[in-house]
Amino acid sequence: MTQEKKLLVSAIKNGTVIDHIDAGHALKIIRILNLADHQKVVTVGLNLPSRAMKFKDIIKVEGRELTPEEANRVAILAPTANLNIIRNYEVVKKFNLKLPEKIDHLLVCPNLKCITNHEPMDSSFAVLPAGHEVKVKCVYCEKTFHQNEIQEYKI
Ligand code: CTP
Ligand code: ZN
Repeated sequence: MTQEKKLLVSAIKNGTVIDHIDAGHALKIIRILNLADHQKVVTVGLNLPSRAMKFKDIIKVEGRELTPEEANRVAILAPTANLNIIRNYEVVKKFNLKLPEKIDHLLVCPNLKCITNHEPMDSSFAVLPAGHEVKVKCVYCEKTFHQNEIQEYKI
């Protein structure tokens, strides 16, 4: 951890750090994981310099240990992110986020003609990893989209 990063977003005592988030995705992740309603401190760094990724976002949640399952819900937005569990200022566990095989509810199909946009029903997408990128295929209209094409999220 460099001095510069320490100054930008301070260390937490107990909780979770979601690190190495592709820059630009932290705010969506906060919304999906409902972290704004968390009753304790949440600190966020946007567009931080990172040697590995050029720019990254970071989210630090004091007083709550996210499970890998919870964090994996946002893996499609941040396939390169990792989860650090902090206890008494020490990193005690580290996980890479893992893409789920399927995502239900969360995504809105960008295909305006898709039945999921016209009937009161849940969306469902198969996740297709493509190197560092992620593509998703709508189970209903069978169209494939790049993760960046999906702008709307059902909470
Ligand atoms: N961190 C924190 N509070 C702590 C300990 C760590 O906010 N009490 C943060 C660090 O700022 C870092 C992340 O948790 O963003 C992981 O910490 P660490 O493993 O020490 O950093 P790195 O070695 O840089 O991790 P990586 O190898 O995953 O890049
Ligand atoms: Zn569809």
